[in-house]
Amino acid sequence: MEMRNLPVLLLLSVAVCSAYPLDRAAKDEDDSMNLVQRYLENYYNLEKDVKPFVRRKDSVPVVKKIQEMQRFLGLEVTGKLDSDTLEVIRKPRCGIPDVGHFSTFPGMPKWRKTHLTYRIVNYTLDLPRDAVDSAIERALTVWAKVTPLKFSRINEGEADIKIIFAVR
Ligand SMILES: *[C@@H]1O[C@H](CO)[C@@H](O)[C@H](O)[C@H]1NC(C)=O
Repeated sequence: MEMRNLPVLLLLSVAVCSAYPLDRAAKDEDDSMNLVQRYLENYYNLEKDVKPFVRRKDSVPVVKKIQEMQRFLGLEVTGKLDSDTLEVIRKPRCGIPDVGHFSTFPGMPKWRKTHLTYRIVNYTLDLPRDAVDSAIERALTVWAKVTPLKFSRINEGEADIKIIFAVR
């Protein structure tokens, strides 16, 4: 899972904002909107070529995407960038899109339950086992915090998520 450098970017933008206190409110608004647009493009297939003037936060395509994202994340579906939604967007996250044309598990539909099991089927020789265990656990904890999902580890049997290490 790939963590993004959002906290660093946000710190930088805060530094820039305080250098220009007069424009600050407008600048903050712009920054959140850029952040949201990138998030929607990366994870919700917001068209990259939509013209800037239709990409305002109250434009129909953007509102629809925000609603889709709120539904996916189990937030209240307001279509607005309320503080709960912004908080989720600002968290570091996994690089896989939430919706759309990607396929992590070909042919497998979305789960209809929220309590998922995972099993670490085998390990890599490149890392100690407990490092692998704790990295996966931490990643799933991050995921569980921002979605309605819960994850429990099992050591045998069929898990919803099987984790294997293989070459390529
Ligand atoms: C882990 O299991 C998969 C599937 O059985 C296998 O292809 C892969 O080579 C295994 N990896 C290691 C590191 O043993």
